[in-house]
Amino acid sequence: MNEIIRAENISKDYFDGQQNRRVLFNINLSIAPNESVMIMGPSGSGKTTLLSILGLILTPSEGSVYIKGQEVKGLTEDEQTTKRLHDIGFVFQNSTLVPALNIIENLLLPCGIQGKKVSQEEKDRAYYYLERFKLKSHSKSFPYELSGGEKQRIAIIRALMNEPPILLCDEPTSVLDLENAKLVFHTLQDLSKEKNRSVLMITHDHRAINFASRALYLDEGHLKEKNDSH
Ligand SMILES: Nc1ncnc2c1ncn2[C@@H]1O[C@H](COP(=O)(O)OP(=O)(O)O)[C@@H](O)[C@H]1O
Ligand SMILES: [Mg+2]
Repeated sequence: MNEIIRAENISKDYFDGQQNRRVLFNINLSIAPNESVMIMGPSGSGKTTLLSILGLILTPSEGSVYIKGQEVKGLTEDEQTTKRLHDIGFVFQNSTLVPALNIIENLLLPCGIQGKKVSQEEKDRAYYYLERFKLKSHSKSFPYELSGGEKQRIAIIRALMNEPPILLCDEPTSVLDLENAKLVFHTLQDLSKEKNRSVLMITHDHRAINFASRALYLDEGHLKEKNDSH
């Protein structure tokens, strides 16, 4: 099957100080390139935990994650880090920018890591994405000069800077007004199609359904295909 990411029988327990509490139960999920999938569900249902496991930030208590057909469990720490850096873009729910750097500097910061010189291609890419998310005029602004919604869009661009085949977003439109939420959904859907990229997005925003290939629903740690009863 043509899939880029697969979760097989994933369960997750958290230790609450006294005992293990299961928050994800036997999750199976497979995402093809160029699919945009949304995950809905009430607060506390396990959405962020699931996204973090798929993004190789957390390890599951049981089950396996496969990225591009490769089982993550069998990889060394270094190999996992490389996979996380190259294959996965992660937009955290509370992403923060570096306050003392302007927007373009914030976007290019990861490119210059370990003393590497930022390439012209990377600069061009940053401006290209700023344009797509209608933020080009803010390239020299500082984070404090941007609205919450604009900063959230910058966090998405930052996750796209290394052109990851998988983009995971945790409630990327929670502080956006209607017009900007649509812009984000629309642009992510376009990028997914154009660049054969899979997008997995947690959202409470029902408007996202028009832009998603599929909607899933998490209910107290159980994953279901979304239907009209929710
Ligand atoms: N690091 C943690 N340690 C213990 N419990 C946690 C931790 N992170 C989340 N939880 C619990 O796991 C459940 C699922 O949390 P989460 O994945 O953040 O849900 P959601 O993103 O859907 O709101 C919640 O009951 C939460 O309190
Ligand atoms: Mg969450």
